[in-house]
Amino acid sequence: MDAKPIQAIGILGTGTIGSSWATFFAAQGMKVRMHDVDPAIVERGIGKAYENLEALVRYGLMEKERLAAVQGNIAPAGDMAALLDGIDYLQESVAETYEVKGKVYAEMDRLASPRTILASSSSGLLMSEIQKHVARPGRCLIAHPFNPPHLVPLVELVPGQKTDPAVVERVKRFFEERGKIPVVLKLEVPGHIANRLAAALWREAIDLVIRGVASVEDVDKALYAGPGIRWALMGQHMIYHLGGGEGGYGYFIDHIGKAFGAYWREMATWSEISPESRERLVEGVRQAMGERDAAEIARWRDEKIVGLLKVIYGKQEPNTGKKGGKT
Ligand SMILES: NC(=O)c1ccc[n+]([C@@H]2O[C@H](COP(=O)([O-])OP(=O)(O)OC[C@H]3O[C@@H](n4cnc5c(N)ncnc54)[C@H](O)[C@@H]3O)[C@@H](O)[C@H]2O)c1
Repeated sequence: MDAKPIQAIGILGTGTIGSSWATFFAAQGMKVRMHDVDPAIVERGIGKAYENLEALVRYGLMEKERLAAVQGNIAPAGDMAALLDGIDYLQESVAETYEVKGKVYAEMDRLASPRTILASSSSGLLMSEIQKHVARPGRCLIAHPFNPPHLVPLVELVPGQKTDPAVVERVKRFFEERGKIPVVLKLEVPGHIANRLAAALWREAIDLVIRGVASVEDVDKALYAGPGIRWALMGQHMIYHLGGGEGGYGYFIDHIGKAFGAYWREMATWSEISPESRERLVEGVRQAMGERDAAEIARWRDEKIVGLLKVIYGKQEPNTGKKGGKT
């Protein structure tokens, strides 16, 4: 296994996720080079990363004195060869299709040193499909973040059939040492773990609106004011283990779990959102937003995420590695 520490980072695709990844890596003190199809898009991505870093200072997650130096860690690459020249780790965040990912992986594989790790942010594609396009598939894996990656700790690591297990282990350690919370999948499935769970929940959240059970606003409230409070602390298995009282998870499955059969039998199974449903959902969100705009809500969300992370993880704030708290 290559023991050289991961220090120089390349970001391919500088949209929503690429710019947030750049924020994370730069805040960790790493050199970050960015590239996209158009220099104007790269400039926008760098601008967004700068804004994110300023917000980290406002949240108390980064010292103000570090800001200029950290922003100075981020630079445009100019072209694909310059992006890949001498980097240890490439985080690809381009469009979510096999066609685009296959094309960029073939090019990256050709230009990058054999020891450069090529990681994809893909929300649900299979690395086994993507790595068919490369000559050195061992260094390719999925490293799927949750938006925004500079704040949310989860990274799902998904090897393809030809990924070298030592590379997965190395990337896992790399993220753990930087305050992220990686999970490693044993088997590839479309949507990995978190987005499959989200997909199951989202279908039902849509169906409840379309069947007229509740408004968009109330379906969302039923999530964030109830189960969502617990989900920031523990997952569904542990929640139901506690829900089983002294009998634990076994008791919960045998008794309360039976009632769920009746829900499952009549729940939605469709796999496409109709144009009419789309209109109702978009209008429902518009009503729920009231006077607020999306940027304002996103700012509020990010501030609250930071507060939650401080409460839950205390001393070591995930993602920044900054020591906080007194205990
Ligand atoms: N948005 C999310 O919530 C989210 C969360 C986790 C992971 N992801 C994943 O991250 C990846 C990027 O998603 P996004 O939301 O940032 O999309 P985005 O549209 O904001 O950004 C994608 C960028 O890729 C660029 N691009 C497209 N083809 C390219 C090419 N051939 N070479 C270089 N750049 C190219 C585009 O110009 C664009 O700037 C996807 O794989 C997506 O599944 C998204």
